[in-house]
Amino acid sequence: MTAMPPDPRTTGSLGTGAAAAGAAAEGDARAAGDAGDPHLDRYAARTAGMTASEIRALFAVASRPEVVSLAGGMPNLAALPLESLSVEVAGLVAAEGQSALQYGSAQGVPVLREQIGDVMAFEAGSLGATGGFAPDDVVVTVGSQSALDMLTRLFVDPGDVVLAESPSYVGALGSFAAYQAEVRHVAMDDDGLIPAALDEALQRLAREGRRAKFLYTVPNFHNPVGVSLAADRRPEIVELCRRHGVLIVEDNPYGLLGFDGQTYPSLRSMDPENVVYLGSFSKIFASGLRVGWALAPHGIRDKLVLAAESATLCPPAFTQLVVSRYLATHDWRSLVKSFREMYRERCEAMLGALETHLPDGCRWTRPQGGFFVWATVPEGVDTRAMLPRAVTARVAYASGTGFHADGSGSRHMRLSFCYPPPERITEGVRRLAGVLDGELDLLRTFGVAGPRHGTPGGPQAPAVDTA
Ligand SMILES: Cc1ncc(COP(=O)(O)O)c(C=O)c1O
Repeated sequence: MTAMPPDPRTTGSLGTGAAAAGAAAEGDARAAGDAGDPHLDRYAARTAGMTASEIRALFAVASRPEVVSLAGGMPNLAALPLESLSVEVAGLVAAEGQSALQYGSAQGVPVLREQIGDVMAFEAGSLGATGGFAPDDVVVTVGSQSALDMLTRLFVDPGDVVLAESPSYVGALGSFAAYQAEVRHVAMDDDGLIPAALDEALQRLAREGRRAKFLYTVPNFHNPVGVSLAADRRPEIVELCRRHGVLIVEDNPYGLLGFDGQTYPSLRSMDPENVVYLGSFSKIFASGLRVGWALAPHGIRDKLVLAAESATLCPPAFTQLVVSRYLATHDWRSLVKSFREMYRERCEAMLGALETHLPDGCRWTRPQGGFFVWATVPEGVDTRAMLPRAVTARVAYASGTGFHADGSGSRHMRLSFCYPPPERITEGVRRLAGVLDGELDLLRTFGVAGPRHGTPGGPQAPAVDTA
């Protein structure tokens, strides 16, 4: 991947796509058009950025079984031990129903907060780099998405700057848009966020007399790029943020999914007082339970608990106790290892197919873990405009435009290998290559690729379930 220049873009009306994508990540596939909404003049100003994509209509088609979807970020749950899990769930209701079905603490169930220490220690492994762990530092959240939303609510007033990688996780951009943040993207390359680019962004802000509220980063097996932040860059990033007084939000849902079991020292371990760490059971157990966590310095932890109280009173005790029982009764470490194997096999299928089928001039990242490959297409091809033609050819992907706050990134696409089996991935890439060949033919003949369908150039949502 070639480094993209630091981007000082301002995005006052940002995130249309990101916000819409947040809705998509929640499974809301409705076309959320404003037409005919009698409440239109009553919405808060902050909803202005929350418009749906005109290509949302495509999503229904993209989810059809005959379409190979390389668009979504859904974990593959095929390896879950459903029978023994159902015994545990029944046992939970029978033995602990009175508490499992009751309101709980806004900070989360104490036993799960203890067990989260084991999960973090498993990832830290020989690195021993949890940054210190006390169950009291943990706030259990409704997936890490709700932690992102609450953190943004706590820190961001309209117009405040948030730094994020270029490109960045669409659900985070959705939260930033909802709170009217100004997102400034910072360039990354094959080794993750580039310290010099971060330094430049921080210095530019200082010259403007401003300071970012936080840096949002996904250091391990990045969504959407698939790369990890090099170990020697980590202390540099932490030091830069400390020096400039900028908080770090370290979002780490994929850290245990290195194909070779490789893990990285957390940013939190290098400066626990200036990093909020986010974890999740979505990719290593069950995304539908919606259980994640934040590990935060005490002041921020207390504010997160207050924010959780006002949002949902408390995270559901039931789903937390399901996770807790699973951790207590199953060999979850082995299951994580089998997930790694499954995703490695799928990633290899994708990389092999890209090598075989994609036309000259395309390039892509080579992930060592996680769910995603980030592909770059030849100049002149617009992945957003091409998407309807891809879906017609029965393959879907997520256009790069959804991963940038201002909707740029149309020469990129995110290809997910997490969900379809290897032979479908190969077939999907073959179809995609056919579509790209067609675009390149048109470019060679007419100087432009295929017709643009409703692509006025603003931000827009990525594909169907881009979580
Ligand atoms: C980088 C990143 N952060 C957060 C999330 C949300 O995870 P959760 O299911 O825990 O809310 C995702 C989901 O895809 C993700 O990729």
